[in-house]
Amino acid sequence: MPQIDQYAVFGHPISHSKSPRIHGLFAKQTSQTLNYVARDVPADAFESNAGTFFAAGGKGLNCTVPLKELAWRYADTLTERARLSKAVNTLARQPDGRILGDNTDGMGLVNDLMTNNRIGLSGYRILILGAGGATRGILPPILEHHPGDITIANRTPAKAETIAYEFSHLGKLISSDFPGLAGRQFDLIINATSASLSDQLPPLPEKLLAANGSCYDLAYANEPTAFVRWGLQQGARLSLDGLGMLVEQAAEAFYLWRGIRPETSPVIKLLDGERGESSVPA
Ligand code: ATR
Repeated sequence: MPQIDQYAVFGHPISHSKSPRIHGLFAKQTSQTLNYVARDVPADAFESNAGTFFAAGGKGLNCTVPLKELAWRYADTLTERARLSKAVNTLARQPDGRILGDNTDGMGLVNDLMTNNRIGLSGYRILILGAGGATRGILPPILEHHPGDITIANRTPAKAETIAYEFSHLGKLISSDFPGLAGRQFDLIINATSASLSDQLPPLPEKLLAANGSCYDLAYANEPTAFVRWGLQQGARLSLDGLGMLVEQAAEAFYLWRGIRPETSPVIKLLDGERGESSVPA
């Protein structure tokens, strides 16, 4: 009997991961036979676990916090966007046995912004909060859509400066600290800090959001995040969290592995509907 193709997501913590569910829905929708599981893998066990997984014939891995940089180092070969990002969220076994590293986060964000929510990027003044791996991951696909400029603001400004310098050949990038944003305005503000995870908000000056501007938090939760709430208070046209991006980055990984692109909107709708259920009286 042929063996079922094996996939997994590694991360730490991982128990709340929606990835097995999402890939299960994609597999069903596209009539693909595969198995996708979540495994709790701390950073110091990543290399041995990935080695064992691929040695046993595993076809592909997703890697999440805190493993994306390790996965970048682990890959035998990288897509251009992963090379630039220095972070990998998807590993794929190639026919020759080599392991390809890709980063589908940025494409996932761009698809959710542009296709699902009709937020354009061309000519936009974009502000990205944070200068960690998440920011690196989203920059290459955003820059492909020719925004007017991108400002990266970070608590530790030197990290924003480094990223702005590294990506400067791809577009106009400006670095800043948070107080330095005062008096400026943006069409799109993206929160790529990990502050949302503890329901905190970077200290942002007032009136940053231009009329008709939108906000997007890369994080997602059952309730609106602190940043999504902030966006609404600032009068954002749309203030979204990262559920759509999560599903879209998974679809890009699925396409890389299986060569077939699942439909994302029914999956986003399903997961979005489910998170409201806990706050609806029984
Ligand atoms: P990730 O891979 O998710 O990007 P990271 O590389 O650890 O994680 O980066 C986290 C980012 O969130 C950093 O930009 C961090 O700011 P510093 O570089 O100054 O540490 C930012 N961050 C985390 N908590 C924050 C908070 N409470 N307020 C503002 N920025 C915060």
